[in-house]
Amino acid sequence: MTILRIRTLGDPVLRERARPLERFDASLRRLVDDMMETMYEAPGVGLAAPQVGVSSRFFVYDDGDTGPRFLANPELLPIKKEQVKEEGCLSIPGPFYETPRALKVKIRGQDLGGRWVEMSPEGQLARIFQHEADHLDGMLYIDRLDEVGRRDVMRQLREHELTREMKGSHPSGGRSLT
Ligand code: NI
Repeated sequence: MTILRIRTLGDPVLRERARPLERFDASLRRLVDDMMETMYEAPGVGLAAPQVGVSSRFFVYDDGDTGPRFLANPELLPIKKEQVKEEGCLSIPGPFYETPRALKVKIRGQDLGGRWVEMSPEGQLARIFQHEADHLDGMLYIDRLDEVGRRDVMRQLREHELTREMKGSHPSGGRSLT
Protein backbone atom coordinates (compact mmCIF):
# COMPACT_ATOMS: atom_id res chain seq x y z
CA MET A 1 0.00 0.00 0.00
CA THR A 2 1.01 3.60 -0.57
CA ILE A 3 0.66 6.78 1.45
CA LEU A 4 -0.91 9.29 -0.94
CA ARG A 5 -0.14 13.00 -1.05
CA ILE A 6 -2.95 15.01 0.55
CA ARG A 7 -3.88 18.07 -1.50
CA THR A 8 -4.11 21.33 0.43
CA LEU A 9 -5.93 24.64 0.18
CA GLY A 10 -5.14 26.29 -3.16
CA ASP A 11 -5.19 23.03 -5.14
CA PRO A 12 -8.02 23.41 -7.70
CA VAL A 13 -9.13 19.76 -7.33
CA LEU A 14 -10.51 20.66 -3.88
CA ARG A 15 -12.85 23.21 -5.49
CA GLU A 16 -14.29 21.01 -8.24
CA ARG A 17 -17.62 19.23 -8.12
CA ALA A 18 -16.51 15.57 -8.22
CA ARG A 19 -17.94 13.16 -10.79
CA PRO A 20 -20.23 10.24 -9.82
CA LEU A 21 -18.37 6.99 -9.19
CA GLU A 22 -19.47 4.39 -11.73
CA ARG A 23 -16.93 1.55 -11.61
CA PHE A 24 -16.68 -0.54 -8.45
CA ASP A 25 -13.70 -2.59 -9.57
CA ALA A 26 -10.29 -3.85 -8.41
CA SER A 27 -8.52 -0.56 -9.19
CA LEU A 28 -11.03 1.25 -6.97
CA ARG A 29 -10.34 -1.23 -4.15
CA ARG A 30 -6.59 -0.59 -4.45
CA LEU A 31 -7.09 3.19 -4.33
CA VAL A 32 -9.42 2.81 -1.33
CA ASP A 33 -6.81 0.70 0.51
CA ASP A 34 -4.25 3.47 -0.09
CA MET A 35 -6.73 6.12 1.06
CA MET A 36 -7.44 4.18 4.27
CA GLU A 37 -3.73 3.91 4.99
CA THR A 38 -3.25 7.61 4.21
CA MET A 39 -6.16 8.53 6.53
CA TYR A 40 -4.79 6.46 9.44
CA GLU A 41 -1.26 7.71 8.92
CA ALA A 42 -2.32 11.40 8.88
CA PRO A 43 -4.07 10.64 11.34
CA GLY A 44 -7.62 11.52 10.36
CA VAL A 45 -11.21 10.28 10.76
CA GLY A 46 -12.23 10.86 7.14
CA LEU A 47 -10.68 11.38 3.72
CA ALA A 48 -12.49 12.24 0.49
CA ALA A 49 -11.19 11.27 -2.98
CA PRO A 50 -10.60 14.90 -4.12
CA GLN A 51 -8.21 15.28 -1.16
CA VAL A 52 -5.87 12.81 -2.88
CA GLY A 53 -6.40 14.42 -6.29
CA VAL A 54 -9.18 12.12 -7.55
CA SER A 55 -12.29 14.03 -8.57
CA SER A 56 -14.77 11.25 -7.84
CA ARG A 57 -17.71 11.07 -5.44
CA PHE A 58 -16.51 8.82 -2.63
CA PHE A 59 -14.76 8.95 0.73
CA VAL A 60 -13.37 6.73 3.48
CA TYR A 61 -13.95 7.22 7.19
CA ASP A 62 -13.50 5.76 10.66
CA ASP A 63 -14.96 7.66 13.61
CA GLY A 64 -13.19 5.30 16.03
CA ASP A 65 -16.25 3.03 16.41
CA THR A 66 -17.14 2.17 12.83
CA GLY A 67 -13.77 0.77 11.74
CA PRO A 68 -12.54 1.52 8.21
CA ARG A 69 -15.50 2.27 5.95
CA PHE A 70 -16.21 3.50 2.44
CA LEU A 71 -19.15 5.35 0.93
CA ALA A 72 -19.74 6.45 -2.67
CA ASN A 73 -22.21 8.76 -4.37
CA PRO A 74 -23.70 9.95 -1.08
CA GLU A 75 -27.07 11.68 -0.90
CA LEU A 76 -27.27 13.52 2.39
CA LEU A 77 -30.23 15.09 4.15
CA PRO A 78 -29.80 17.13 7.35
CA ILE A 79 -32.65 16.11 9.66
CA LYS A 80 -32.07 17.41 13.16
CA LYS A 81 -31.03 20.65 14.84
CA GLU A 82 -27.56 22.06 14.99
CA GLN A 83 -24.30 21.11 16.64
CA VAL A 84 -21.36 23.51 16.86
CA LYS A 85 -18.00 21.85 17.44
CA GLU A 86 -14.38 22.32 16.55
CA GLU A 87 -13.63 21.03 13.09
CA GLY A 88 -10.39 20.65 11.16
CA CYS A 89 -9.45 19.40 7.70
CA LEU A 90 -6.40 17.47 6.49
CA SER A 91 -6.40 19.80 3.47
CA ILE A 92 -6.13 22.88 5.74
CA PRO A 93 -3.41 21.54 8.05
CA GLY A 94 -3.12 23.18 11.46
CA PRO A 95 -6.28 25.20 12.18
CA PHE A 96 -9.47 24.16 13.98
CA TYR A 97 -12.65 26.19 14.29
CA GLU A 98 -16.10 25.84 15.84
CA THR A 99 -18.24 24.88 12.84
CA PRO A 100 -22.04 24.57 12.67
CA ARG A 101 -23.43 21.28 11.33
CA ALA A 102 -26.71 19.37 11.56
CA LEU A 103 -26.74 17.14 14.66
CA LYS A 104 -28.32 14.27 12.76
CA VAL A 105 -28.41 13.35 9.06
CA LYS A 106 -29.93 10.75 6.83
CA ILE A 107 -27.41 9.49 4.30
CA ARG A 108 -27.72 7.06 1.42
CA GLY A 109 -24.76 5.85 -0.60
CA GLN A 110 -23.01 2.84 -2.15
CA ASP A 111 -20.59 0.43 -0.51
CA LEU A 112 -17.48 -1.03 -2.19
CA GLY A 113 -19.63 -3.63 -3.93
CA GLY A 114 -21.92 -0.92 -5.32
CA ARG A 115 -24.81 -1.89 -3.03
CA TRP A 116 -26.95 0.97 -1.69
CA VAL A 117 -26.92 1.45 2.06
CA GLU A 118 -28.71 3.95 4.29
CA MET A 119 -27.80 5.34 7.72
CA SER A 120 -29.09 7.99 10.13
CA PRO A 121 -26.10 8.88 12.33
CA GLU A 122 -25.86 11.64 14.95
CA GLY A 123 -23.01 13.60 16.49
CA GLN A 124 -19.44 13.01 15.34
CA LEU A 125 -20.32 10.58 12.54
CA ALA A 126 -23.01 12.95 11.22
CA ARG A 127 -20.36 15.70 11.27
CA ILE A 128 -17.85 13.55 9.35
CA PHE A 129 -20.44 12.74 6.67
CA GLN A 130 -21.34 16.42 6.21
CA HIS A 131 -17.65 17.38 5.99
CA GLU A 132 -16.84 14.64 3.45
CA ALA A 133 -19.99 15.22 1.37
CA ASP A 134 -18.96 18.90 1.16
CA HIS A 135 -15.54 17.85 -0.20
CA LEU A 136 -17.33 16.09 -3.09
CA ASP A 137 -19.08 19.36 -3.95
CA GLY A 138 -15.85 21.37 -3.87
CA MET A 139 -16.68 22.85 -0.47
CA LEU A 140 -14.45 23.19 2.61
CA TYR A 141 -15.50 23.80 6.21
CA ILE A 142 -14.24 27.39 6.01
CA ASP A 143 -17.13 28.01 3.58
CA ARG A 144 -19.50 27.20 6.49
CA LEU A 145 -17.98 29.92 8.70
CA ASP A 146 -18.65 33.62 8.91
CA GLU A 147 -16.00 36.19 7.95
CA VAL A 148 -14.53 36.27 11.48
CA GLY A 149 -14.18 32.48 11.49
CA ARG A 150 -12.58 32.34 8.06
CA ARG A 151 -10.07 35.01 9.02
CA ASP A 152 -9.19 33.18 12.22
CA VAL A 153 -8.61 29.94 10.30
CA MET A 154 -6.35 31.72 7.79
CA ARG A 155 -4.39 33.30 10.68
CA GLN A 156 -3.99 29.87 12.34
CA LEU A 157 -2.89 28.45 8.99
CA ARG A 158 -0.15 31.07 8.59
CA GLU A 159 1.05 30.49 12.17
CA HIS A 160 1.05 26.74 11.61
CA GLU A 161 3.12 27.12 8.44
CA LEU A 162 5.67 29.28 10.29
CA THR A 163 5.87 26.79 13.17
CA ARG A 164 6.27 23.90 10.77
CA GLU A 165 9.07 25.66 8.92
CA MET A 166 10.89 26.14 12.21
CA LYS A 167 10.26 22.76 13.85
CA GLY A 168 9.12 20.45 11.07
CA SER A 169 6.20 19.48 13.34
CA HIS A 170 2.57 18.79 12.50
CA PRO A 171 0.60 19.19 15.74
CA SER A 172 -3.07 18.14 15.75
CA GLY A 173 -3.35 18.14 19.55
CA GLY A 174 -5.18 14.81 19.44
CA ARG A 175 -8.15 16.39 17.66
CA SER A 176 -10.07 14.81 14.80
CA LEU A 177 -9.14 15.70 11.26
CA THR A 178 -11.11 15.00 8.13
NI1 NI B 1 -11.51 17.78 5.06
